[in-house]
Amino acid sequence: MAVNLLLGLQWGDEGKGKIVDVLTKNYDIIARFQGGPNAGHTLIFDGNKHVLHTIPSGIFHENTQNVVGNGVVIDPVIFKKELENLDNYNVNYTNKLLISRKAHLILPTHRLLDAASETSKGKAKIGSTLKGIGPTYMDKTGRNGMRVGDLELDNWKEKYDALTAKHIKMLDFFDVQIDYNLKELEAEFCEGIDKLKTLQFIDSEEFLNNAIQGNKTILAEGAQGSLLDIDFGTYPYVTSSNTTAAGACTGLGIAPNKIGDVFGIFKAYTTRVGSGPFPTELFDADGETMGRVGHEFGATTGRPRRCGWLDLVALKYAIQVNGVTQLMMMKADVLSGFGTIKVCTSYNYKGEEISHLPYNIEQENVSVNYTEFKGWKADLTKMTSEAELPKNLMDYIAFIEKETGVPVKIVSVGPDRKQTILR
Ligand code: GDP
Ligand code: IMO
Ligand code: MG
Repeated sequence: MAVNLLLGLQWGDEGKGKIVDVLTKNYDIIARFQGGPNAGHTLIFDGNKHVLHTIPSGIFHENTQNVVGNGVVIDPVIFKKELENLDNYNVNYTNKLLISRKAHLILPTHRLLDAASETSKGKAKIGSTLKGIGPTYMDKTGRNGMRVGDLELDNWKEKYDALTAKHIKMLDFFDVQIDYNLKELEAEFCEGIDKLKTLQFIDSEEFLNNAIQGNKTILAEGAQGSLLDIDFGTYPYVTSSNTTAAGACTGLGIAPNKIGDVFGIFKAYTTRVGSGPFPTELFDADGETMGRVGHEFGATTGRPRRCGWLDLVALKYAIQVNGVTQLMMMKADVLSGFGTIKVCTSYNYKGEEISHLPYNIEQENVSVNYTEFKGWKADLTKMTSEAELPKNLMDYIAFIEKETGVPVKIVSVGPDRKQTILR
């Protein structure tokens, strides 16, 4: 039995959480493979909105197990808040939320280091979510990190103290003022650890491979987006993990030959939060309309998201790197009312027209060429079948399918679980 992957093809916030929730009924296990509380995955159903940061988006379904894989970084403080939200909704997670012993822990000082690094960069800052993601993955690859499994050892506090002391020294290297109260931060951290320890810690690679052997169905849930991938994204304006398909293998311990379908989630337009290049970004009324109608504010930080037209050059790149087999188009409803819909089909780069993603996509290096489509006026949000969708939207979808060679299997027409059209 194959493991299917679901990941974002743009700069994050494509609507991954919603679609994982929609698809969960088909799976025995949902497994997050990378990222941490920099993610904000929004689920809306039964009149309630939930934002998950670390917990997989299958958690609201009765019969599905949810695994936080080894590739994820966990902040016990934020994790505790997420669990408390589940408690408020009487979600019984104790037997269906399993944590990899090999997942790394975000310490309070990782967050301080993130802040110090960002402040010291000034205008060149990454625009990180300030959740300590970069410093935690640096400690992981630097072989200094603390893992969930360490919490089962008697001396975890010694490890914690040694790493924290090192971080405090490192903070001095940054020539910036970061105010903090270590005692308070530690107290909060220890409370988080206590709550985390009420959950089951597992050898998740063993668990998942046994599940594969036992013909269980597994969906791997990505965080962030392909253009934020540490290797293939718009470096250095990226996150610190592999958000692309290969990250699911290393982030869960699943072999490449066990991967089946790869679901690529993309918005009918493009957004980005934080710094970095964005060739189709709009600074005009159209961009403002997308942001307003699409409620484009970060689910984790509340920052306004930058908006622009769909970039097919970048989308094709993401499809290639991930081996996407099915596309899922989100937020089609947000484009209702635009007279003209534009899609970037090529870049001008060093005096040439190109249709692949070059090394540098900053505004001074590339300009974009658009293909235009007629818009549609109809409100899509109440539509429930493909037959109701306006012809101009179907033309837009057909063009994307032709250009990418990949079928669009879901069209999302609103944030609610029910506002989902399967094709
Ligand atoms: P994720 O990080 O990929 O899970 O996406 P986010 O939750 O950060 O951002 C997606 C936002 O769009 C959330 O506010 C969702 O509730 C909302 N959303 C998802 N799908 C749709 C859709 O089809 N239409 C509209 N209008 N909103 C959507
Ligand atoms: P989801 O899973 C959108 C962005 C940040 C910043 C860069 C690095 O909800 O799609 P980091 O805190 O990871 O060091 O920040 O990456 N970023 C996201 N943007 N959605 C996310 O997650 C993101 N996670 C990180 O804004 O530009
Ligand atoms: Mg998000």
